[in-house]
Amino acid sequence: MSKDDWKSVPQIASSEITPESVWLNRRNLMKAAAAGAGMTAVGETIAQPKALKDLAFKTPAENTSFKATEDLTPYEAATTYNNFYEFGTDKSDPARYADAMTTDPWEITVGGLVNKPGKLHLEDILSGFDLEERIYRFRCVEAWSMVVPWIGFPLSKLLDRFEPKAEGKFIEFKTLYRRSEMRGTRSFTSIIDWPYREGLRMDEAMHPLTLMTVGLYGKTLPNQSGAPLRLIVPWKYGFKNIKSIVEINVTDRQPKTSWQDLAPQEYGFYANVNPEVSHPRWSQAWERRLPSSLFNPNRLRTQMFNGYADQVADLYQGMDLARYY
Ligand code: MTE
Repeated sequence: MSKDDWKSVPQIASSEITPESVWLNRRNLMKAAAAGAGMTAVGETIAQPKALKDLAFKTPAENTSFKATEDLTPYEAATTYNNFYEFGTDKSDPARYADAMTTDPWEITVGGLVNKPGKLHLEDILSGFDLEERIYRFRCVEAWSMVVPWIGFPLSKLLDRFEPKAEGKFIEFKTLYRRSEMRGTRSFTSIIDWPYREGLRMDEAMHPLTLMTVGLYGKTLPNQSGAPLRLIVPWKYGFKNIKSIVEINVTDRQPKTSWQDLAPQEYGFYANVNPEVSHPRWSQAWERRLPSSLFNPNRLRTQMFNGYADQVADLYQGMDLARYY
């Protein structure tokens, strides 16, 4: 997809999206046609819809318990104002440069303390999990926020397949690190020890709100948003929402994370949205809801756990949230 393609992409309503049964049938038909044409004999030219971006989703099941009621942030704002340091530190860099990243084929390795270590191909992910749409608030630690209809499936469903062992207490995630395609990683001003890493406690990872995400606004994720697969944990600051994941490990120790490595006094492992605990350099009591400008900052009060306290506060019972920020 060229950097300007999204501008011409129509906003597809969830209801208009091709049901999975239709595209699966279409794929089978294409395979059958290819086989009929003798193409499988050589094994290379089998007609499969290769471009991930051309695949249609299942019609997402709209789960009302996962639906923020505020207005959606426009697609344009959510996909042109991004953080993806692999492509640069300016908010416009990811939309400008992330198309250099090859996302097809894509493989995710799942290992560590699991009974069944293994790999998943993107095709397995897209066809092997029931995808649903969830409208979540998203709050960056830098105090901007948005409301996005993500498409994905609970992370717990993926982890269950690999059978985490009882001694597994945390999950570690890693992003693709491919210098040739990621200009930000080649920059001499790059401050991150690549690959980008994040982590969750096991109960956070297994929480029903925690979503492995493959799309937004009824479409596959554009590269700048973390194609083809990223994490969305709506009650935590944006930096926990690691993009373009290639590796997941179950561990018995709290994994090292990129931002903690860089500035542990500013970015904690938990990173739960909390208006009462300020960042050392700014307050977290307010946020700018995108689109936001100097003249129309669109300021809102930040909510505890980003408005998901009813669902997640008990995960942190008895913890000092100022200490475990
Ligand atoms: N994942 C990777 N691999 N690299 C990054 O630089 N930035 C994080 C997070 N995930 C980042 C990442 C930060 S700081 C934020 S706020 C969100 O992605 C931004 O997500 P968005 O660009 O889709 O809004």
